[in-house]
Amino acid sequence: MVDDASKKDEAKLWGGRFSEKLNPTMETFNASLSFDKRLWDVDIRGSYAYVKALEKCNLVSSDESKSLLLGLSQIAGEWASNKFVIKNDEDIHSANERRLKEIIGNEIGGKLHVGRSRNDQVATDERLWLREQATVLKSLLLSFVKISCQRAKAEVDILMPGYTHLQRAQPIRWSHWMLSYAWYFHNDANKLEDVISRMNVCPLGSGALAGNPFHIDRDLLAKELGFSGCMPNSLFAVSDRDFIAEFLFWASLLSTHLSKWAEDLILYSSKEFGFVTIADGYSTGSSLMPQKKNADSLELIRGKTGRLIGNCVGFLVVLKGLPSAFNKDLQEDKEPLFDTYYSLVEILQIACGILETLKVNKESCLSALSPEMLATDVAYYLVRKNLPFREAHKIAGEVVALAEKEKCPVSELTVTQLKELSELFSEDISSIWNYEHSVEQYQAFGGTAKVNIELQVQQLEQWISDSQILTTQV
Ligand code: ARG
Repeated sequence: MVDDASKKDEAKLWGGRFSEKLNPTMETFNASLSFDKRLWDVDIRGSYAYVKALEKCNLVSSDESKSLLLGLSQIAGEWASNKFVIKNDEDIHSANERRLKEIIGNEIGGKLHVGRSRNDQVATDERLWLREQATVLKSLLLSFVKISCQRAKAEVDILMPGYTHLQRAQPIRWSHWMLSYAWYFHNDANKLEDVISRMNVCPLGSGALAGNPFHIDRDLLAKELGFSGCMPNSLFAVSDRDFIAEFLFWASLLSTHLSKWAEDLILYSSKEFGFVTIADGYSTGSSLMPQKKNADSLELIRGKTGRLIGNCVGFLVVLKGLPSAFNKDLQEDKEPLFDTYYSLVEILQIACGILETLKVNKESCLSALSPEMLATDVAYYLVRKNLPFREAHKIAGEVVALAEKEKCPVSELTVTQLKELSELFSEDISSIWNYEHSVEQYQAFGGTAKVNIELQVQQLEQWISDSQILTTQV
């Protein structure tokens, strides 16, 4: 056994029982500082709270507590001003502790970690970090919904084809299409709140796995850190990463909605549809074909969604099959977490920008409507004359077939021709051949009539203002 001090790695938090240095490749393989340094702020805040709890159970004196807090705030200052010097540190927890000892000395600095483990520490840091970032995501979602509402009000008179199976189905309001996505994002924002409220419990004070032997006041820790309570089992507390899995799934579902929205707009902005024009600021050209204007922004939203879903699935595979308590596999939670979060912020910023600046082409939307899209209205016309719907549907189908045979639009069939299919047709059929009339008949709550657009906008705007009040209260 080699026991040469020069070969030891004294600087490691766990160096005591080792007689050889870490293999250099293993050193890099093991380290997480390059990506977990973004937890510096929450890591220090967790330590502030821990110092207070240590003082309360007399593990540090009040002078020692002052010196620890002062040292920690100096470290925070160094990180904030980009002056923190990274050395051969394994992770953010080791880096902050190493620096603390440099500033206030080993004797007092070495007391901070009593009863604490990086296992309860990292779980706490990540919860604090995600809780804060969630407010950024929530406010971006609110902005998206706000823009949708503003446009929905201003552009309520624009009619367009609604599609099923990507075939022209029935006329709808453009605003109704826009608000359909606003509702997805409304629900996504509410689901995020649920994820955060489940996550907002404190693991700190659970030690490595068995708990804390010094009667540390865990309620004090939870309160100091703004958690709603303490996690009730130390093994569970140090290993539970459900909040990360839930967040990654939430993000995958949100980005799936954004991807569908992007896909609609990619189609609508093509020459074939021509319903919208994406602003130059969110488009790019071709290096070969001078006429091209591509909706790269929307394609990237659609494409990045694949990566976000991958992050979620990849992390579930990391969790699957782990034995109880902390395993180093859990360090693999951070890269997908950060990647998903920062990608989502960018995606949402770009999505808001696209929606805010795109031009809707009223005339192209209108001219994509064609009279056969009113076939359902013909059936409803007959229903209003007391014919059972199935019978009405059959006759309306025959009307479409007749128009095809006569090679004319359905709206140009004469009342005499129509009467051959049903005696119920009369001159008043002419009122049916009107797209505005068509959309306005959907008066029941949730339909595409103007009154319902106004109601949706009202509800969403109310939700936005209630949410803003809540966000500022946090
Ligand atoms: N860097 C580690 C992580 O990201 C911190 C916890 C380390 N714990 C341990 N027992 N090695 O999860």
